[in-house]
Amino acid sequence: MRIAVVGSGYVGLVAGACFADLGHDVILVDNDEAKIAALKAGQVPIHENFLPELLQRHRGHRLEFSTELHEPVRASQAIFIAVGTPPTDRGDADLSYVEMVAREIAGAINGYKVVVEKSTVPVYTSEWVRKIILRNGADPESFDVASNPEFLREGTAVTDFLFPDRILIGCDHTRCSAVLRDVYSPLSTGTYYQTAGAIPQPDGATLPPQLIVTSTKSAELTKHASNAFLAMKISFINAVASMCESVGADVTQVCHGIGTDSRIGPRFLNPGIGYGGSCFPKDVMAFRAVARDCGYDFRLLDEVMRINEDQRERFLRKVRSALWTLRGKNIGVLGLAFKGGTDDIRESPAILIVQALLQEGCKITAYDPAAMERSQEVMHSGIKFAGNAYEAAHRADALLILTEWEEFANLDLPRLREELKYPIVIDGRNLYDPEVMASQGFTYYSVGRAASHPDGVPAALKSEIKQAATKNGASEA
Ligand code: UGA
Repeated sequence: MRIAVVGSGYVGLVAGACFADLGHDVILVDNDEAKIAALKAGQVPIHENFLPELLQRHRGHRLEFSTELHEPVRASQAIFIAVGTPPTDRGDADLSYVEMVAREIAGAINGYKVVVEKSTVPVYTSEWVRKIILRNGADPESFDVASNPEFLREGTAVTDFLFPDRILIGCDHTRCSAVLRDVYSPLSTGTYYQTAGAIPQPDGATLPPQLIVTSTKSAELTKHASNAFLAMKISFINAVASMCESVGADVTQVCHGIGTDSRIGPRFLNPGIGYGGSCFPKDVMAFRAVARDCGYDFRLLDEVMRINEDQRERFLRKVRSALWTLRGKNIGVLGLAFKGGTDDIRESPAILIVQALLQEGCKITAYDPAAMERSQEVMHSGIKFAGNAYEAAHRADALLILTEWEEFANLDLPRLREELKYPIVIDGRNLYDPEVMASQGFTYYSVGRAASHPDGVPAALKSEIKQAATKNGASEA
């Protein structure tokens, strides 16, 4: 099928590349000329596994790029709108980009088209898109508006798209759902997974994915409700972690106890420094605003947001109490991205914590495997960027772990201890076992677990670790 995707952000670019991999002819449209020129020249604007391969594979064949929307609309049967919906000052979503695209589509319609909302939008958006297209002269029979929300996560976007838990299609007419069923049939029938060169299946994927068809409004609401629920799960466990700290319980044990209940499940129960990124903070706020507009006072979401902000403050208090005074202290920081596996720093709790520490007079040396270039654009004075984790730790008064990159969970601990001026690690992502850290000579603080100190390690564990270290040829701790 011939498909147009409007907007080449995370969702649009990944969707466009994946639709091409499913066998469709895709034209990706963006009014950012520099971005389109870069994509045409073979550049990949975001750090995302498998995306470079897919763009390379399909560029110039099944995937084309354009800054102009009129012709792609005329040539396509389905037009996916994946433009930004940033928050306004009121907290609701700014839909002006969606409206602009809808207006342009109206002027180009030349036969039946399905206009698909792919961006995260409030529940009444499909009605508005329909009204705008009609107001701009389109024949009511010549188009339908559908909702097909995307559930991909940054860092695993391509595999999330191609191996989803479910594909959700919100349509109010069968002629429209038939088109979207066709778009996704290589996934829903499983034929894609048999093709040579298909992206490898990630662990835990259930194939083929379920295709769920709902009304347009239900699909729109499902997207906001999913993100709000996941954010709530994170705030819930962060609140439990705070209780664990007060009473001396261990949040990891509590999570295991909770998560093994199949009704709850273990995922998205990792406490930390709060959720960030371009979706949860914006979407929880927008969902709150949508509820207000619909006459429902969704105060639970206020609390989700409050706990999330508190979590950063609690972490900063931990840093202050570990180091007493902050002015002039050298702090090593591991992680700037809002989560591991991405170079995205939008609403990153790591960046907000670093900015707060800089304001309190700390000197920061930071390292992130992918997000340093972007961080340099927003932070200038008081911060140095290191070439690796050990360089960030060099002569630091303490080391903070702020992003859950896998490589930060596998550091050479004796080497790290030697680099640090004082062996203090404050881990906002619970990447290490407190007893192991203490046995390796660190004073270690984490989230929802008691702090551990080098002299607090049971003798039996110390000798176990020493034996393991000798066996692995590691230097004496
Ligand atoms: C999120 C959703 O997970 C996707 O399903 C959705 O499609 C996407 O938003 C979107 O609406 O576009 P994403 O923002 O890429 O995806 O990242 P997540 O993996 O959900 O992480 C969000 C934040 O929560 C990160 O800061 C992460 O560190 C934090 N988090 C996540 C925790 O603190 N604890 C957890 O257990 C999980």
